[in-house]
Amino acid sequence: MNVENSSELTRRIESLKRENNAVILAHYYTTPEVQAVADFLGDSLALSVQAQQVDARIILFAGVHFMAETAKVLCPDKKVLIPCPEAGCSLAESCDAKEFAAFKAKYPDHKVVSYVNTTVEVKALTDVCCTSSNALKVVESLPADQPLIFAPDRNLGSYIQKLTGRRNMVLWDGACHVHEEFSLERLLALKREHPQAKVVVHPECRAYIVEVADYVGSTAGILDYCGRSEAKEFIVVTEAGILAEMRKRYPEKNFIPAPPDDETCGCNNCRYMKMVTLENIAECLEKESPEIVLDEEIRRAAERSIRNMIAIR
Ligand code: 13P
Repeated sequence: MNVENSSELTRRIESLKRENNAVILAHYYTTPEVQAVADFLGDSLALSVQAQQVDARIILFAGVHFMAETAKVLCPDKKVLIPCPEAGCSLAESCDAKEFAAFKAKYPDHKVVSYVNTTVEVKALTDVCCTSSNALKVVESLPADQPLIFAPDRNLGSYIQKLTGRRNMVLWDGACHVHEEFSLERLLALKREHPQAKVVVHPECRAYIVEVADYVGSTAGILDYCGRSEAKEFIVVTEAGILAEMRKRYPEKNFIPAPPDDETCGCNNCRYMKMVTLENIAECLEKESPEIVLDEEIRRAAERSIRNMIAIR
């Protein structure tokens, strides 16, 4: 899209927001143009908290489907719009609710901790949700002798298991296609080229990537660390959308995206997050559709597990 089209669309979106009393919440992995029209930009925990506090008739969620669903669970009286309902999440898709219910039935004395990257139906089967920001706190808040199911991210689950030393935790075998693709070999080569750089890693990455990290955390955690650290260079091992906010906040620092196994790619993009565009945001605000609609019984059950998550920040 050329700059003229992009600024025209941005103007249209800004006036639609005013006319319709709408706010846009966006995740750091969306494109820089989409981030620029957001009223609030954040990681998945902050976005859930923000959704509850929004004073508007409409929330348009610029992110993937489970994020908009979470906003609707927390704000049933607001209209929650999703510009691209096909924007899914490989983690949420890796955990089918029926299969998960059967899995849960095998462990009747276990409590369920689910990463927020799940469908509303899986959240309804969950005791406490978590995000990568508070997963450690959530697990530590449960008695050490309480057996747990952790779903759906096996990488985040085993990272938390390692930090807590908790043996009584059964992991669902799911993963994020973006974070699983980082290449250790190419990351180590980048480290050799930039020996002063700090390596910042999202905990959805595989254990052998997490092991070489100077910092492991959520998107918001990584952004804070890059600000606090005295280092001037960072190798960024998460989805590349976050680079826009890093460069905006810390223009004097150098951010180098870590590459995937695929030799033709210099960085890792989530194709779902990139499905959200200025065009579909403008159209969605105009038509007030597509909208998230939930079954009330499932919404209530999911709300409990999300509120339990928000209470542990
Ligand atoms: P954060 O909680 O770090 O924003 O991560 C969201 C996500 O979906 C990562 O794949």
